[in-house]
Amino acid sequence: MDFPAYRPRRLRRNERLRALVRETALAPSHLIYPLFVGAGKDSARPVDSMPGVAQLSIDRAVKECEEAAALGIPAVILFGIPDHKDAVGSEAYADGGRVQEAVRAIKERVPGMLVVTDVCLCEYTDHGHCGVIKNGDVDNDATLELLAEEALSHARAGADIVAPSDMMDGRVGAIRRALDREGFAQVAIMAYAAKYASGFYAPFREAAESTPGFGDRRTYQMDPANGDEALREVELDIREGADIIMVKPAMTYLDVVYRVKQKFGYPVAAYNVSGEYAMIKAAAKNGWIDERRIVMELLFSIRRAGADMILTYFAKDAARELRGK
Ligand code: PBG
Repeated sequence: MDFPAYRPRRLRRNERLRALVRETALAPSHLIYPLFVGAGKDSARPVDSMPGVAQLSIDRAVKECEEAAALGIPAVILFGIPDHKDAVGSEAYADGGRVQEAVRAIKERVPGMLVVTDVCLCEYTDHGHCGVIKNGDVDNDATLELLAEEALSHARAGADIVAPSDMMDGRVGAIRRALDREGFAQVAIMAYAAKYASGFYAPFREAAESTPGFGDRRTYQMDPANGDEALREVELDIREGADIIMVKPAMTYLDVVYRVKQKFGYPVAAYNVSGEYAMIKAAAKNGWIDERRIVMELLFSIRRAGADMILTYFAKDAARELRGK
């Protein structure tokens, strides 16, 4: 139908009409809130490049979970900052490690909160890479065992979902086998399947103290120029047992979110990463953009591309906005 029979503006006349024909839903139930858990008691150490984000002591992380739960946010994802780092990231898979303790505390105090744990070695190794180093590069197969150990220790602590973010080949299978063998068949895997070697992680590396000491992550994370390869990565992870597929970052990879959802029809998570957060915060601070408006636009665009869930540092702000508070 052509103009004047069809007038698209007819359905834009007021908010009730616009809401009636709105195609994409966005609710607090779609959001996952990332938390950085560090040392101390009643402590929040601000992250300079991420205004509003801090490294939290476990008690403060529990408080954040209580607030998030009250806002209708169903899940958090935890990143640990250990006391000591070494070549093999020992604290990553210690039962008394920071993330493991945090999971226990959250499960005890906020039992309804779904706890996702990031499974990686970069926060725990003294060289800052996501696995063990041999001959100047990350050794894939030697790293798999350690990641499986880490995932197991998170499961023992009570994690609902483990989320490997290391990008080693075969890690989803290695983790699935270890979980099943030890009686954790019910623990789900959210695989960072299409994770790109991105400059947008820089503020996270300040927050998690995980900047590589030499080189970069391009021998294991994906080349930003590739889209088809993301589908191969996703297919592998699904075959190995991934329950939820993640694409990361979000904003600059919405085509990948779309293709993954279309092709596989699996639950898709998109990670609205630290650099995306920092850019919005910086521009808003200068008065150049309207932060509240842009955050909602961004989250809608990620949902429109096909993501079922969004990991975002804006989770609490967005939930407040959506609840009209
Ligand atoms: C750990 C990990 C990273 C992020 C999530 N898990 C950093 C990296 O790969 O360097 C980035 C998240 C963000 O930037 O918000 N490997």
